[in-house]
Amino acid sequence: TRTWAEPYKIKMVEPLKMTTEDERRAAIAEAGYNTFLLKSEDVYIDLLTDSGCGAMSDRQWAGMMLGDEAYAGSANFYRMRDTIESYYSYKYTVPTHQGRGAENILSQILISDGDYVPGNMYFTTTRLHQELAGASFVDVIIDEAHDPASTHPFKGNVDLAKLDALVAEVGAEKIPYICIATCVNMAGGQPISMSNLRALRAWCDRTDTLLVHDMTRVAENAYFIQQREEGYADKTVREIVHELCALTDAATMSSKKDALVNIGGFLAMNDPDIYEKACNLVVVYEGLHTYGGMAGRDMEALAIGITESVQDDHISARVGQVEYLGNRLMEMGVPIVQPIGGHAIYLDAKAILPHIPQDQFPAQALAAALYIDAGVRVMERGVVSAGRDKDTGENFMPKLELVRLTLPRRVYTQAHMDVVAESVQRVMQGAADIRGLKFTYEPDCLRFFRAHFAPV
Ligand code: F0G
Repeated sequence: TRTWAEPYKIKMVEPLKMTTEDERRAAIAEAGYNTFLLKSEDVYIDLLTDSGCGAMSDRQWAGMMLGDEAYAGSANFYRMRDTIESYYSYKYTVPTHQGRGAENILSQILISDGDYVPGNMYFTTTRLHQELAGASFVDVIIDEAHDPASTHPFKGNVDLAKLDALVAEVGAEKIPYICIATCVNMAGGQPISMSNLRALRAWCDRTDTLLVHDMTRVAENAYFIQQREEGYADKTVREIVHELCALTDAATMSSKKDALVNIGGFLAMNDPDIYEKACNLVVVYEGLHTYGGMAGRDMEALAIGITESVQDDHISARVGQVEYLGNRLMEMGVPIVQPIGGHAIYLDAKAILPHIPQDQFPAQALAAALYIDAGVRVMERGVVSAGRDKDTGENFMPKLELVRLTLPRRVYTQAHMDVVAESVQRVMQGAADIRGLKFTYEPDCLRFFRAHFAPV
């Protein structure tokens, strides 16, 4: 085997502060055992998210100097729009400040009270916007996606029988659209196959249902198709990305992930009527339809980021780094979601902390313990993220109780990955001493961001 290495070199660095274990214990207690509430300067290796914290290229920074900050009709908007059409196929683009801005507008346009929106597993902000617009989310992902040990190569696939069952129960007219994520975040960064998406396209044509694409991590999904799906080994990631997008009717995008920028997003579609409605709503919530909350320079950086994001060298190194960390952890016997996903490693907190019941938030407790050990910041993706059922008020109890180690793009080195792996191993060895947590403050929605906890 040949050594893998990054297809770039470093030309600017950001020094990191080193902390002691005592300092970290004090910091996490002050943060209410919630890693979202830590100060970033107290973090050594920040694997909280891959959102907005990637490194831009010198080309992108050069593009920032070309910002056309006109209120209306910025040249950067047209460049971004043309790039989106060329790389992602969608004809019309409405910029938004980030992904959830696009979710809000799309949900308001397409959803009526009492509707159902099926999806391949929920995402926190996506589901909330669907609910705020009056719909209920219905999970139609294949069962394997809920089993952290299943090695199915496309755990992001939709189970069409679950869709048929939903139609039989509520009627096709109650389903305005299906929302499909590429590289499903909450399932562990797991891809959907092209053949499944094609079958879904046919299903949507048959039932006259729109197919909406959460394309936040579409390039990573395309890479897995190239590696795993028959007939795609000789296609470029760019070609596969285009083919994926072209099977869908509209897309919401958080450009802060795949597209390699620090802020921004968009809503894109082919239907001129939906575009017209989106233009009228974006001025209410985001900004004029040619900037939607983004600076001109940020739209320029996004246009360049899109072109870099689909380069095969880039994406194989990006996913390769995730696989490097995942393989090290597996060699150490750490239980992780398999196969290794595109943007993150997910630790199985139920398996690591079997003595902590799920209503004492094992993944939250594990995240706090990891920070204390070596200053690595990670995120809970379990019962705290899942929230409460809006009808019963009870906690959703997801089968997956995970801790996410998310890798920012082009930011950390292989030595950083080794530090992380060794820290996870140490924490696992001391797992019996980790205690569960209870809420001391619980926000009404998206509670994981700002909740406070104390040890039970
Ligand atoms: N869809 C997916 C699949 C996401 O992962 C995210 C954000 C969004 C939509 C919302 O986009 O943050 O730009 O408003 N995920 C981040 C994460 C926050 O850490 O997984 P946004």
